[in-house]
Amino acid sequence: MTTTITICDTCKRDDWDADSGRTDGEALAALVEAAAAGVEGVRTRRHSCLMGCSGACNVALQGPGKMAYTLGRFDPTPDAAAGLVEYAAKHAAVETGVVPFREWPVAIKGHFVTRHPPVTE
Ligand code: FES
Repeated sequence: MTTTITICDTCKRDDWDADSGRTDGEALAALVEAAAAGVEGVRTRRHSCLMGCSGACNVALQGPGKMAYTLGRFDPTPDAAAGLVEYAAKHAAVETGVVPFREWPVAIKGHFVTRHPPVTE
């Protein structure tokens, strides 16, 4: 199954450099997209505002029939992007979407904001 990483492309951290020509969310999205290229079971997309603005940068992880998560307070760094993609690949590989804590990449620990159980008919 596929896990989708949705990256907020309008997030701006408190220390955002307005002269950079892009938002922090766009910077993180580019890093996540590069890290996810060719990774089986992981796809990415961008969305403007996930309504967690004060905790930028924010992302969501979702897969059909699985526990979904929002994560935030990321700096737009290669380490954060790599951790998100590694976690998404594990999320994709687990039927429930619940990845055991011992398997969480260090880069995502402390960044979980919410989780949402899958809806049923
Ligand atoms: S701008 Fe990113 S969550 Fe609102």
